[in-house]
Amino acid sequence: MSERLGVGIVGSGFIAEFHTRSFRGVRDADVVAVSGRNAETVRGVCDLARKIQVGDPTGYSDVRDMVRDPAVDAVWLTTPNHVRLETVRAIVEEVGSGRASLRGIAIEKPLGRTVAEAAEVLALVESVGLSHGYLENQVFAPGVTRAHELVWARGASAAGAPYLARCAEEHSGPHSAWFWQGDKQGGGVLNDMMCHSVEAGRFLLTPPGVRKSEWLTPVSVDATIACLKWARPAYSEQLRERFGPEVDYQRAPSEDYARSTVVYRNGDGDEVVSEGTTSWSYVGAGLRLTFELLGPEYAMAVNSLDTEAKVFLSREISGKPGEDLVEKQNAEGGLMPILSDEAGAYGYTEENRHMVTSFLQGTPPAEDLHDGLLVTKVLMASYLSAQEGRRIDLDSTDLTDFVPDVATGNWRSGR
Ligand SMILES: NC(=O)c1ccc[n+]([C@@H]2O[C@H](COP(=O)([O-])OP(=O)(O)OC[C@H]3O[C@@H](n4cnc5c(N)ncnc54)[C@H](O)[C@@H]3O)[C@@H](O)[C@H]2O)c1
Repeated sequence: MSERLGVGIVGSGFIAEFHTRSFRGVRDADVVAVSGRNAETVRGVCDLARKIQVGDPTGYSDVRDMVRDPAVDAVWLTTPNHVRLETVRAIVEEVGSGRASLRGIAIEKPLGRTVAEAAEVLALVESVGLSHGYLENQVFAPGVTRAHELVWARGASAAGAPYLARCAEEHSGPHSAWFWQGDKQGGGVLNDMMCHSVEAGRFLLTPPGVRKSEWLTPVSVDATIACLKWARPAYSEQLRERFGPEVDYQRAPSEDYARSTVVYRNGDGDEVVSEGTTSWSYVGAGLRLTFELLGPEYAMAVNSLDTEAKVFLSREISGKPGEDLVEKQNAEGGLMPILSDEAGAYGYTEENRHMVTSFLQGTPPAEDLHDGLLVTKVLMASYLSAQEGRRIDLDSTDLTDFVPDVATGNWRSGR
Protein backbone atom coordinates (compact mmCIF):
# COMPACT_ATOMS: atom_id res chain seq x y z
CA MET A 1 0.00 0.00 0.00
CA SER A 2 1.37 3.41 -0.87
CA GLU A 3 1.28 6.23 1.65
CA ARG A 4 -1.70 8.61 1.46
CA LEU A 5 -1.90 12.34 2.02
CA GLY A 6 -4.72 13.80 4.13
CA VAL A 7 -5.73 17.11 2.58
CA GLY A 8 -7.43 19.90 4.52
CA ILE A 9 -9.06 22.58 2.38
CA VAL A 10 -9.33 26.09 3.84
CA GLY A 11 -12.24 27.98 2.28
CA SER A 12 -15.48 26.49 1.02
CA GLY A 13 -16.32 28.59 -2.04
CA PHE A 14 -16.09 28.20 -5.79
CA ILE A 15 -12.51 27.00 -6.05
CA ALA A 16 -12.73 24.72 -3.00
CA GLU A 17 -15.43 22.85 -4.87
CA PHE A 18 -13.30 22.63 -8.04
CA HIS A 19 -10.38 21.21 -6.05
CA THR A 20 -12.65 18.70 -4.34
CA ARG A 21 -13.95 17.49 -7.72
CA SER A 22 -10.40 17.20 -9.05
CA PHE A 23 -9.41 14.75 -6.29
CA ARG A 24 -11.35 12.07 -8.17
CA GLY A 25 -8.28 11.91 -10.41
CA VAL A 26 -5.69 11.92 -7.61
CA ARG A 27 -4.87 8.45 -6.30
CA ASP A 28 -2.83 9.03 -3.15
CA ALA A 29 -4.85 11.62 -1.27
CA ASP A 30 -8.11 12.02 0.61
CA VAL A 31 -9.96 15.22 1.43
CA VAL A 32 -10.04 14.79 5.22
CA ALA A 33 -11.10 18.26 6.40
CA VAL A 34 -12.68 21.49 5.19
CA SER A 35 -12.70 24.76 7.11
CA GLY A 36 -14.47 28.03 6.45
CA ARG A 37 -16.54 30.65 8.13
CA ASN A 38 -19.78 29.69 6.39
CA ALA A 39 -21.05 26.48 8.03
CA GLU A 40 -23.48 25.77 5.22
CA THR A 41 -20.91 25.92 2.41
CA VAL A 42 -18.39 23.95 4.53
CA ARG A 43 -21.03 21.26 4.88
CA GLY A 44 -21.69 21.47 1.14
CA VAL A 45 -18.04 20.79 0.25
CA CYS A 46 -17.86 17.95 2.82
CA ASP A 47 -21.02 16.42 1.35
CA LEU A 48 -19.65 16.74 -2.17
CA ALA A 49 -16.43 14.96 -1.11
CA ARG A 50 -18.44 12.10 0.37
CA LYS A 51 -20.75 11.90 -2.64
CA ILE A 52 -17.91 11.62 -5.15
CA GLN A 53 -15.91 9.44 -2.74
CA VAL A 54 -12.78 11.53 -2.44
CA GLY A 55 -12.91 11.50 1.37
CA ASP A 56 -15.06 11.74 4.47
CA PRO A 57 -14.04 15.19 5.68
CA THR A 58 -14.61 16.82 9.04
CA GLY A 59 -15.93 20.39 8.82
CA TYR A 60 -14.28 23.12 10.90
CA SER A 61 -15.11 26.78 11.47
CA ASP A 62 -11.55 27.64 12.58
CA VAL A 63 -8.49 26.93 10.46
CA ARG A 64 -6.38 26.49 13.62
CA ASP A 65 -8.57 23.61 14.77
CA MET A 66 -8.43 22.10 11.30
CA VAL A 67 -4.64 22.02 11.05
CA ARG A 68 -4.39 20.48 14.55
CA ASP A 69 -6.43 17.51 13.29
CA PRO A 70 -3.83 14.71 13.03
CA ALA A 71 -5.55 13.46 9.86
CA VAL A 72 -4.52 16.68 8.05
CA ASP A 73 -1.09 16.28 6.43
CA ALA A 74 -1.28 19.19 4.00
CA VAL A 75 -3.36 22.31 3.47
CA TRP A 76 -4.93 23.65 0.27
CA LEU A 77 -5.49 27.34 0.95
CA THR A 78 -8.42 28.82 -0.98
CA THR A 79 -9.61 31.79 1.10
CA PRO A 80 -10.14 35.14 -0.65
CA ASN A 81 -7.16 37.39 -1.32
CA HIS A 82 -7.83 39.80 1.56
CA VAL A 83 -7.65 37.02 4.15
CA ARG A 84 -4.73 35.13 2.62
CA LEU A 85 -2.05 36.59 4.88
CA GLU A 86 -3.98 36.22 8.15
CA THR A 87 -4.81 32.61 7.26
CA VAL A 88 -1.17 31.81 6.51
CA ARG A 89 -0.10 33.47 9.78
CA ALA A 90 -2.55 31.31 11.74
CA ILE A 91 -1.40 28.08 10.07
CA VAL A 92 2.28 28.93 10.48
CA GLU A 93 1.78 29.77 14.17
CA GLU A 94 0.16 26.39 14.73
CA VAL A 95 2.99 24.59 12.94
CA GLY A 96 5.72 26.70 14.58
CA SER A 97 4.34 26.00 18.06
CA GLY A 98 4.20 22.27 17.40
CA ARG A 99 0.42 22.10 17.82
CA ALA A 100 0.07 21.12 14.15
CA SER A 101 2.26 18.89 12.04
CA LEU A 102 2.06 19.37 8.27
CA ARG A 103 4.06 18.18 5.27
CA GLY A 104 3.08 20.94 2.91
CA ILE A 105 0.88 23.83 1.95
CA ALA A 106 -0.54 24.67 -1.47
CA ILE A 107 -1.78 28.22 -1.95
CA GLU A 108 -4.20 29.58 -4.56
CA LYS A 109 -3.33 32.43 -6.87
CA PRO A 110 -2.56 35.29 -6.55
CA LEU A 111 -0.02 34.82 -3.76
CA GLY A 112 -0.67 38.30 -2.36
CA ARG A 113 -2.33 41.58 -3.21
CA THR A 114 1.06 43.30 -3.20
CA VAL A 115 4.69 42.25 -3.42
CA ALA A 116 5.02 42.89 0.33
CA GLU A 117 2.14 40.50 1.08
CA ALA A 118 3.36 37.80 -1.29
CA ALA A 119 6.90 38.05 0.12
CA GLU A 120 5.53 37.73 3.66
CA VAL A 121 3.50 34.64 2.74
CA LEU A 122 6.63 33.01 1.30
CA ALA A 123 8.81 34.00 4.28
CA LEU A 124 6.24 32.74 6.80
CA VAL A 125 5.86 29.36 5.08
CA GLU A 126 9.63 28.92 4.75
CA SER A 127 10.18 29.98 8.38
CA VAL A 128 8.58 26.71 9.54
CA GLY A 129 10.19 24.57 6.83
CA LEU A 130 6.97 23.59 5.04
CA SER A 131 7.07 22.30 1.46
CA HIS A 132 5.08 24.71 -0.67
CA GLY A 133 3.16 24.73 -3.91
CA TYR A 134 1.65 27.63 -5.81
CA LEU A 135 -1.75 26.67 -7.23
CA GLU A 136 -1.50 27.86 -10.83
CA ASN A 137 -3.70 25.33 -12.58
CA GLN A 138 -3.16 26.50 -16.18
CA VAL A 139 0.43 25.24 -16.32
CA PHE A 140 -0.94 21.77 -15.54
CA ALA A 141 -3.79 21.84 -18.12
CA PRO A 142 -3.27 18.67 -20.23
CA GLY A 143 -3.81 20.44 -23.57
CA VAL A 144 -1.22 23.04 -22.65
CA THR A 145 1.36 20.65 -21.19
CA ARG A 146 1.10 18.16 -24.08
CA ALA A 147 1.34 20.81 -26.79
CA HIS A 148 4.23 22.42 -24.89
CA GLU A 149 6.05 19.10 -24.65
CA LEU A 150 5.57 18.40 -28.36
CA VAL A 151 6.65 21.78 -29.73
CA TRP A 152 9.75 21.74 -27.57
CA ALA A 153 10.56 18.13 -28.52
CA ARG A 154 9.90 18.40 -32.26
CA GLY A 155 10.09 22.14 -32.98
CA ALA A 156 12.53 23.79 -30.58
CA SER A 157 15.03 20.90 -30.66
CA ALA A 158 15.33 21.33 -34.46
CA ALA A 159 14.82 25.05 -35.02
CA GLY A 160 15.61 26.79 -31.71
CA ALA A 161 13.73 27.97 -28.63
CA PRO A 162 10.32 29.67 -28.94
CA TYR A 163 10.24 33.45 -28.83
CA LEU A 164 6.62 34.47 -28.31
CA ALA A 165 3.91 33.22 -25.95
CA ARG A 166 0.37 34.59 -26.03
CA CYS A 167 -1.99 33.72 -23.22
CA ALA A 168 -5.46 35.00 -22.47
CA GLU A 169 -8.21 34.35 -19.96
CA GLU A 170 -11.56 36.00 -20.49
CA HIS A 171 -15.05 35.74 -19.07
CA SER A 172 -18.01 37.94 -18.24
CA GLY A 173 -17.08 38.67 -14.62
CA PRO A 174 -16.50 36.96 -11.27
CA HIS A 175 -19.07 35.28 -9.05
CA SER A 176 -18.44 36.91 -5.60
CA ALA A 177 -18.58 40.58 -4.56
CA TRP A 178 -15.03 40.72 -3.11
CA PHE A 179 -13.44 40.04 -6.55
CA TRP A 180 -14.95 43.31 -7.81
CA GLN A 181 -13.66 45.38 -4.89
CA GLY A 182 -10.15 46.73 -5.54
CA ASP A 183 -9.13 46.87 -1.88
CA LYS A 184 -10.20 43.32 -1.08
CA GLN A 185 -9.03 41.65 -4.25
CA GLY A 186 -5.89 43.78 -4.77
CA GLY A 187 -6.98 45.11 -8.17
CA GLY A 188 -9.32 44.10 -10.97
CA VAL A 189 -8.95 41.56 -13.74
CA LEU A 190 -5.22 42.17 -14.04
CA ASN A 191 -4.59 40.88 -10.52
CA ASP A 192 -7.30 38.24 -10.72
CA MET A 193 -6.53 36.64 -14.07
CA MET A 194 -3.27 38.03 -15.51
CA CYS A 195 -1.54 35.97 -12.82
CA HIS A 196 -2.59 32.92 -14.88
CA SER A 197 -1.50 34.37 -18.20
CA VAL A 198 1.88 35.56 -16.90
CA GLU A 199 2.67 32.15 -15.44
CA ALA A 200 1.37 30.26 -18.48
CA GLY A 201 3.62 32.44 -20.65
CA ARG A 202 6.66 31.68 -18.46
CA PHE A 203 5.81 27.99 -18.57
CA LEU A 204 5.46 27.85 -22.36
CA LEU A 205 8.72 29.72 -23.01
CA THR A 206 10.69 27.37 -20.70
CA PRO A 207 11.85 23.89 -21.81
CA PRO A 208 9.95 20.98 -20.19
CA GLY A 209 11.53 19.86 -16.94
CA VAL A 210 13.55 23.05 -16.43
CA ARG A 211 12.70 25.47 -13.61
CA LYS A 212 11.30 28.66 -15.13
CA SER A 213 13.49 30.89 -12.97
CA GLU A 214 16.59 29.12 -14.30
CA TRP A 215 15.69 29.66 -17.95
CA LEU A 216 13.98 33.07 -17.99
CA THR A 217 15.22 36.36 -16.59
CA PRO A 218 12.45 38.98 -16.49
CA VAL A 219 13.55 42.24 -18.11
CA SER A 220 10.63 44.65 -18.50
CA VAL A 221 6.86 45.03 -18.44
CA ASP A 222 4.51 47.23 -20.43
CA ALA A 223 0.77 47.20 -19.69
CA THR A 224 -2.59 48.86 -20.28
CA ILE A 225 -5.73 48.63 -18.16
CA ALA A 226 -9.26 49.93 -18.76
CA CYS A 227 -12.82 49.52 -17.53
CA LEU A 228 -14.57 48.93 -20.83
CA LYS A 229 -17.94 47.51 -19.81
CA TRP A 230 -18.72 47.60 -16.11
CA ALA A 231 -18.27 51.36 -15.56
CA ARG A 232 -21.04 52.06 -18.09
CA PRO A 233 -24.03 53.29 -16.05
CA ALA A 234 -26.41 50.46 -16.97
CA TYR A 235 -23.79 47.82 -16.14
CA SER A 236 -22.54 49.43 -12.94
CA GLU A 237 -26.18 49.46 -11.83
CA GLN A 238 -26.38 45.73 -12.57
CA LEU A 239 -23.35 45.19 -10.32
CA ARG A 240 -24.94 47.18 -7.49
CA GLU A 241 -28.14 45.17 -7.79
CA ARG A 242 -26.27 41.87 -7.81
CA PHE A 243 -23.62 42.54 -5.15
CA GLY A 244 -24.86 45.50 -3.08
CA PRO A 245 -23.70 49.10 -2.64
CA GLU A 246 -20.10 48.18 -1.80
CA VAL A 247 -19.57 47.30 -5.49
CA ASP A 248 -19.92 50.77 -7.01
CA TYR A 249 -18.24 51.09 -10.40
CA GLN A 250 -19.35 54.70 -10.82
CA ARG A 251 -17.36 55.65 -7.71
CA ALA A 252 -14.56 53.09 -7.51
CA PRO A 253 -14.19 50.92 -10.61
CA SER A 254 -11.58 48.22 -11.11
CA GLU A 255 -10.23 47.37 -14.54
CA ASP A 256 -12.22 44.79 -16.50
CA TYR A 257 -9.59 44.66 -19.27
CA ALA A 258 -5.83 44.29 -19.04
CA ARG A 259 -2.98 43.71 -21.45
CA SER A 260 0.55 43.06 -20.28
CA THR A 261 3.66 42.38 -22.31
CA VAL A 262 6.63 40.91 -20.47
CA VAL A 263 10.09 40.77 -22.02
CA TYR A 264 12.48 38.07 -20.80
CA ARG A 265 16.04 37.02 -21.62
CA ASN A 266 16.11 33.24 -22.08
CA GLY A 267 18.80 30.66 -21.34
CA ASP A 268 20.21 31.06 -24.88
CA GLY A 269 20.67 34.78 -24.22
CA ASP A 270 17.83 35.69 -26.61
CA GLU A 271 15.04 38.18 -26.05
CA VAL A 272 11.62 36.49 -25.81
CA VAL A 273 8.18 37.95 -25.16
CA SER A 274 5.03 36.89 -23.33
CA GLU A 275 1.79 38.73 -24.12
CA GLY A 276 -1.16 38.39 -21.76
CA THR A 277 -4.72 39.61 -22.24
CA THR A 278 -7.42 39.20 -19.63
CA SER A 279 -10.94 40.53 -19.37
CA TRP A 280 -14.16 40.42 -17.40
CA SER A 281 -15.87 42.03 -20.37
CA TYR A 282 -15.88 39.03 -22.70
CA VAL A 283 -19.32 37.66 -23.50
CA GLY A 284 -19.05 34.41 -25.40
CA ALA A 285 -20.31 30.94 -24.51
CA GLY A 286 -18.38 31.07 -21.25
CA LEU A 287 -14.83 31.12 -19.87
CA ARG A 288 -12.30 31.20 -22.71
CA LEU A 289 -8.65 30.29 -22.19
CA THR A 290 -6.29 30.61 -25.10
CA PHE A 291 -2.61 29.84 -25.38
CA GLU A 292 -0.17 30.17 -28.24
CA LEU A 293 3.54 29.52 -28.49
CA LEU A 294 5.46 30.61 -31.55
CA GLY A 295 8.99 29.65 -32.55
CA PRO A 296 11.15 29.99 -35.66
CA GLU A 297 9.52 27.06 -37.57
CA TYR A 298 6.54 26.04 -35.42
CA ALA A 299 3.51 27.11 -33.44
CA MET A 300 1.01 25.62 -31.01
CA ALA A 301 -2.46 26.81 -30.06
CA VAL A 302 -5.03 25.86 -27.42
CA ASN A 303 -8.55 27.25 -27.07
CA SER A 304 -10.66 25.91 -24.21
CA LEU A 305 -13.91 26.65 -26.08
CA ASP A 306 -12.92 24.48 -29.06
CA THR A 307 -14.44 21.51 -27.26
CA GLU A 308 -14.89 18.03 -28.73
CA ALA A 309 -18.50 18.02 -27.49
CA LYS A 310 -21.26 20.53 -28.18
CA VAL A 311 -25.00 20.69 -27.68
CA PHE A 312 -27.58 22.54 -29.74
CA LEU A 313 -30.82 23.83 -28.17
CA SER A 314 -33.40 25.43 -30.45
CA ARG A 315 -35.30 28.66 -29.86
CA GLU A 316 -38.27 26.59 -28.74
CA ILE A 317 -36.42 25.82 -25.50
CA SER A 318 -35.79 28.48 -22.89
CA GLY A 319 -33.54 26.97 -20.26
CA LYS A 320 -32.80 28.19 -16.74
CA PRO A 321 -29.49 30.05 -16.31
CA GLY A 322 -26.83 27.60 -15.17
CA GLU A 323 -23.13 26.74 -15.28
CA ASP A 324 -23.61 23.12 -16.31
CA LEU A 325 -22.15 23.39 -19.84
CA VAL A 326 -19.06 25.53 -19.21
CA GLU A 327 -17.68 27.74 -16.41
CA LYS A 328 -19.11 31.30 -16.43
CA GLN A 329 -21.70 30.19 -18.99
CA ASN A 330 -23.52 33.04 -20.75
CA ALA A 331 -26.28 31.25 -22.66
CA GLU A 332 -28.55 28.22 -22.51
CA GLY A 333 -29.50 28.00 -26.16
CA GLY A 334 -28.06 27.70 -29.64
CA LEU A 335 -24.85 25.79 -30.33
CA MET A 336 -22.97 25.55 -27.05
CA PRO A 337 -19.60 23.98 -26.21
CA ILE A 338 -19.53 21.56 -23.30
CA LEU A 339 -16.54 20.53 -21.26
CA SER A 340 -17.12 17.06 -19.90
CA ASP A 341 -14.41 17.35 -17.25
CA GLU A 342 -13.66 20.97 -16.43
CA ALA A 343 -11.48 20.17 -13.40
CA GLY A 344 -9.33 18.03 -15.70
CA ALA A 345 -9.30 20.36 -18.72
CA TYR A 346 -8.36 23.49 -16.73
CA GLY A 347 -5.51 21.63 -15.01
CA TYR A 348 -6.75 21.20 -11.43
CA THR A 349 -6.49 17.41 -11.49
CA GLU A 350 -2.90 17.28 -12.75
CA GLU A 351 -1.99 20.20 -10.50
CA ASN A 352 -3.26 18.40 -7.41
CA ARG A 353 -1.75 15.09 -8.45
CA HIS A 354 1.62 16.84 -8.78
CA MET A 355 1.30 18.64 -5.41
CA VAL A 356 0.25 15.45 -3.62
CA THR A 357 3.13 13.44 -5.11
CA SER A 358 5.63 16.20 -4.29
CA PHE A 359 4.44 16.47 -0.68
CA LEU A 360 4.44 12.70 -0.20
CA GLN A 361 7.91 12.30 -1.71
CA GLY A 362 9.33 15.44 -0.06
CA THR A 363 10.41 16.88 -3.42
CA PRO A 364 9.86 20.58 -4.29
CA PRO A 365 6.80 21.11 -6.52
CA ALA A 366 7.54 22.44 -10.02
CA GLU A 367 5.28 25.38 -9.21
CA ASP A 368 6.11 26.90 -5.84
CA LEU A 369 5.66 30.10 -3.87
CA HIS A 370 8.80 31.62 -5.42
CA ASP A 371 6.92 31.47 -8.73
CA GLY A 372 3.92 33.08 -7.01
CA LEU A 373 6.10 35.92 -5.73
CA LEU A 374 7.64 36.52 -9.15
CA VAL A 375 4.18 36.61 -10.73
CA THR A 376 3.07 39.18 -8.14
CA LYS A 377 6.10 41.33 -9.03
CA VAL A 378 5.15 41.21 -12.72
CA LEU A 379 1.53 42.09 -11.88
CA MET A 380 2.54 45.06 -9.75
CA ALA A 381 4.96 46.22 -12.45
CA SER A 382 2.03 45.96 -14.89
CA TYR A 383 -0.14 48.22 -12.70
CA LEU A 384 2.69 50.71 -12.35
CA SER A 385 3.25 50.67 -16.11
CA ALA A 386 -0.46 51.18 -16.82
CA GLN A 387 -0.75 53.97 -14.25
CA GLU A 388 2.31 55.86 -15.43
CA GLY A 389 2.10 55.03 -19.13
CA ARG A 390 5.67 53.75 -19.34
CA ARG A 391 7.65 50.56 -19.63
CA ILE A 392 8.91 49.27 -16.26
CA ASP A 393 12.43 47.89 -15.95
CA LEU A 394 12.08 44.91 -13.60
CA ASP A 395 15.67 44.85 -12.45
CA SER A 396 15.89 48.43 -11.23
CA THR A 397 12.34 48.97 -9.87
CA ASP A 398 11.61 48.24 -6.22
CA LEU A 399 7.94 47.27 -6.09
CA THR A 400 7.84 46.12 -2.45
CA ASP A 401 5.65 48.94 -1.14
CA PHE A 402 3.73 49.64 -4.34
CA VAL A 403 -0.08 49.49 -4.06
CA PRO A 404 -2.01 49.98 -7.32
CA ASP A 405 -4.42 52.93 -7.55
CA VAL A 406 -7.15 50.39 -8.35
CA ALA A 407 -6.63 48.85 -4.90
CA THR A 408 -6.84 52.20 -3.10
CA GLY A 409 -9.99 53.31 -4.96
CA ASN A 410 -8.14 56.14 -6.73
CA TRP A 411 -8.19 54.81 -10.28
CA ARG A 412 -10.49 55.94 -13.09
CA SER A 413 -10.46 54.38 -16.55
CA GLY A 414 -9.03 56.47 -19.38
CA ARG A 415 -7.44 59.08 -17.16
N1 LIG B 1 -7.12 28.87 -9.99
C1 LIG B 1 -8.21 29.49 -10.40
O1 LIG B 1 -8.54 29.51 -11.57
C2 LIG B 1 -9.09 30.18 -9.40
C3 LIG B 1 -10.44 30.34 -9.69
C4 LIG B 1 -11.25 30.97 -8.73
C5 LIG B 1 -10.68 31.44 -7.57
N2 LIG B 1 -9.35 31.29 -7.33
C6 LIG B 1 -8.72 31.85 -6.10
O2 LIG B 1 -9.22 31.12 -4.98
C7 LIG B 1 -9.46 31.99 -3.88
C8 LIG B 1 -10.93 31.87 -3.47
O3 LIG B 1 -11.77 32.18 -4.57
P1 LIG B 1 -13.25 31.59 -4.70
O4 LIG B 1 -13.64 31.78 -6.12
O5 LIG B 1 -13.33 30.25 -4.11
O6 LIG B 1 -14.03 32.64 -3.80
P2 LIG B 1 -15.49 32.48 -3.22
O7 LIG B 1 -15.96 33.85 -2.91
O8 LIG B 1 -16.31 31.61 -4.09
O9 LIG B 1 -15.27 31.66 -1.88
C9 LIG B 1 -14.47 32.17 -0.84
C10 LIG B 1 -14.63 31.30 0.40
O10 LIG B 1 -13.85 31.87 1.46
C11 LIG B 1 -14.68 32.06 2.60
N3 LIG B 1 -14.27 33.28 3.30
C12 LIG B 1 -14.62 34.55 2.99
N4 LIG B 1 -14.08 35.40 3.86
C13 LIG B 1 -13.40 34.64 4.74
C14 LIG B 1 -12.66 34.93 5.90
N5 LIG B 1 -12.53 36.19 6.33
N6 LIG B 1 -12.09 33.91 6.53
C15 LIG B 1 -12.24 32.64 6.11
N7 LIG B 1 -12.96 32.29 5.02
C16 LIG B 1 -13.52 33.29 4.36
C17 LIG B 1 -16.08 32.18 2.07
O11 LIG B 1 -17.02 31.80 3.07
C18 LIG B 1 -16.05 31.21 0.91
O12 LIG B 1 -16.24 29.90 1.38
C19 LIG B 1 -9.05 33.37 -4.36
O13 LIG B 1 -7.75 33.64 -3.94
C20 LIG B 1 -9.11 33.29 -5.87
O14 LIG B 1 -8.22 34.17 -6.50
C21 LIG B 1 -8.56 30.64 -8.22
